[in-house]
This record gives sequence, C-alpha cells and structure tokens, in this order.
Amino acid sequence: MEKKRIAGQKSTEYIKDGMILGLGTGSTAYYMIKEVGAMVQGGMNLKAVATSKSTENLAKEFKIPLVPIDKVDRIDLAIDGVDEIDKEFNAIKGGGGALFREKIVDSLAKEVIWIMDDSKLVDRIGKFPLPVEILPYGYKHVIRKLESYSLNPVIRIQDDKFFITDNGNYIVDLYIGNPININEFYSKVNVITGVLETGLFINTCNRIIVGTDTGVKVIENTLGD
Ligand code: 5RP
Repeated sequence: MEKKRIAGQKSTEYIKDGMILGLGTGSTAYYMIKEVGAMVQGGMNLKAVATSKSTENLAKEFKIPLVPIDKVDRIDLAIDGVDEIDKEFNAIKGGGGALFREKIVDSLAKEVIWIMDDSKLVDRIGKFPLPVEILPYGYKHVIRKLESYSLNPVIRIQDDKFFITDNGNYIVDLYIGNPININEFYSKVNVITGVLETGLFINTCNRIIVGTDTGVKVIENTLGD
C-alpha cells in the first residue's frame, strides 16, 4: 500500500486551483482522493467528476464538491489507477468494474494521469483478465460469442451473485492470458451487440506515476496521439 500511497499523493502535485478533476476508482485512487480532500479543506477551489459510486462516496466523505458529468463543460485533469500497462501505454483497466465511466472521463479530460505500484508495469498486457461491460439482456449470447473467439469469458461474481456495475450491467472477465492482438480485439469484441465497453485503453494517458520500493517514478508519455 505504501507504493500506491506515494503514487497517489505525487499525482496531486499536478492539480491547480480552479480545476475540474476526474476522480478515478480503486485503492490507489483512494490516496489521491484523500489528498484532494485535504487540498479543498486547505482552501483550493476544485470541483470533481467521480468515475464510480464508491468514488462519489469517498469524495463526499472528504468534502470534495462533485459535479455530474453532464453538467461540466470540461475536465482539466483525470487521475486514475490501472491494472496492467505496457511501454506503449496500452492498458487494461476495470478491475473494480468502473471501466465505462473511467473511459468516458478519460476521453473528456485534457490531461490524464494514471497512478500505480510497479507491479502494474508489464512487457505485454493480457495476463490480467480484461473486463468487458455487457448489458444483461441476452448476455448468454454475448458470452457464447466471446467463447467462439477463444477469449475465455467468465461472468464476474460477487457475494454469490452476478456483479452489477454502477450502470446496472454485468462484467465479463476475459482470461486471455497471452499478448492481446489489439486490432483483432477491437474488430471482434467492440462490435458485438450487447457489449457496452471494454477495459482496453490504448495510449490514453499523458503520464504515469509509479510507486516503487525506492520512491516514486514519473514517466511522461511522449508517443503522442
Ligand atoms: C477500477 C480500475 C482501477 O483503477 C484499477 O482496478 C486499479 O485499482 P487499484 O488501484 O486498486 O490497484 O480500473 O475499475
């Protein structure tokens, strides 16, 4: 947790007065949100859009003013966690099931920072199960289609029930287990009727902040769009 804490705290150095923030979801984002709360209490003028109900609750606990996504004209900076990321900044997100809102917030943000411990840095993404948010109606057919592509889909279960996202949908985790063929994935999975969004994020962030045993590392994304 120490590595996550230092990464989360470091990310708040990029926050400026007057910003509208996108607040990510997860255990690393927790430390960032806590620090944002302290900044607001210290007199900074900040507003935020939350990427999940759990983050919304945390923001309320830390007294961070929240704005609904459809009421903002911009998001200046989104800060979020990540599950796996490679050197080309291809990433898997959505371990916490918030991938849809995270993707919308990231897509609107002028700048995106991802925070993590060093276990998240990998040579090739694909070992971490890739979450896909699917609509409940006809979900078995979506799963069959994913099976036909040998993507090893497993519906996410929590407390012996189907995990339900903040949008009222299901999550299917794809146990791909080997490097993902990104073009093939998009052409097959993103077009299945019933798939809302996937946790595959391609070159989305501007910077990553990594907590390590020896301190925090900031890595700029110089690849461009
Ligand atoms: C939630 C996410 C999280 O950002 C991701 O799972 C990382 O979580 P953590 O910081 O707890 O390791 O994508 O949907």
